[in-house]
Amino acid sequence: MPTFNIFEILKIAEKFLTSHNITEAKLDAEVMLCDVLNIERKVLPTIREKNLTAKQYSLYQKYLERRANREPVSYIIGNTEFMGLKFKVSSDVLIPRQETEILVETVNNFIKKNNCKNILDLCTGSGCIAVSVAKYNKDISVTASDISEKALNIAKENAELNKVSDRINFVQSNIFESINEKFDIIVSNPPYVTEKEYKTLEKELYFEPKLALTAEDNGLYFYKQIAENAKKYLNNNGAIFLELNANLSKEIESLFKNFSSTKIIKDYSGLPRILQISTQKEK
Ligand SMILES: C[S@@+](CC[C@H](N)C(=O)[O-])C[C@H]1O[C@@H](n2cnc3c(N)ncnc32)[C@H](O)[C@@H]1O
Repeated sequence: MPTFNIFEILKIAEKFLTSHNITEAKLDAEVMLCDVLNIERKVLPTIREKNLTAKQYSLYQKYLERRANREPVSYIIGNTEFMGLKFKVSSDVLIPRQETEILVETVNNFIKKNNCKNILDLCTGSGCIAVSVAKYNKDISVTASDISEKALNIAKENAELNKVSDRINFVQSNIFESINEKFDIIVSNPPYVTEKEYKTLEKELYFEPKLALTAEDNGLYFYKQIAENAKKYLNNNGAIFLELNANLSKEIESLFKNFSSTKIIKDYSGLPRILQISTQKEK
């Protein structure tokens, strides 16, 4: 094995990833090396002269090859950060996205203002929404549901990792099929990619479960199901918060015209990203 110190290996790794068209080559190289070394990123500059062991070198090489093959870093290292919390991820769940943090923040504000007691997270996946809502709202009780048993197992692990499993009830359900309660809030980041959009995604996205991405009916299937059925599962004055396919925002909003009010919230790129739906007119 050639002997490289951390400074040298990072330079080589960045060059290797760049040559494979990885845009965030430096960041990815650092994040994966930190995982190999089991250290936080802020420690990296302080140990630049240290050499890698043979075992660390060989593991890092495998990581780099996987990344060059366009596998997302979060799957390679097996975790990611969301709302300042650590989440385990595997190829059974969608990797939590930054845009979804806006959904959680919007829900958190609503819970605080309206003193909500319970919430349903439909299509929970890794459990990132359910777990972070539970973590930041100490009195809320959460139901997290998904059709995928494998996803629910990851979500349960994430609830334990973040010490909120006592306030989250996990239910395997095809949308509302096995839900038998009413809630103050329904939140969902449902699958919303159309079959046409799916064909043009970046290579990284094909490592994610198709079940988590695509929706029939031109991307509208889950929004239509929620629009048709949600009232049965909402308490008086309840609200729905949905992440939007930005290309379909107007069509999605119009599905909820029978509700008292709707409001679209934009993401960091100025795209329509969250739809807030109320059963009561806002004062
Ligand atoms: C876009 S992912 C969202 C995951 C997570 N909530 C997040 O924001 O990162 C959608 C999730 O919907 C689940 N799903 C797909 N079809 C479903 C169905 N018919 N009923 C319930 N969940 C479903 C998938 O398993 C996946 O976990």
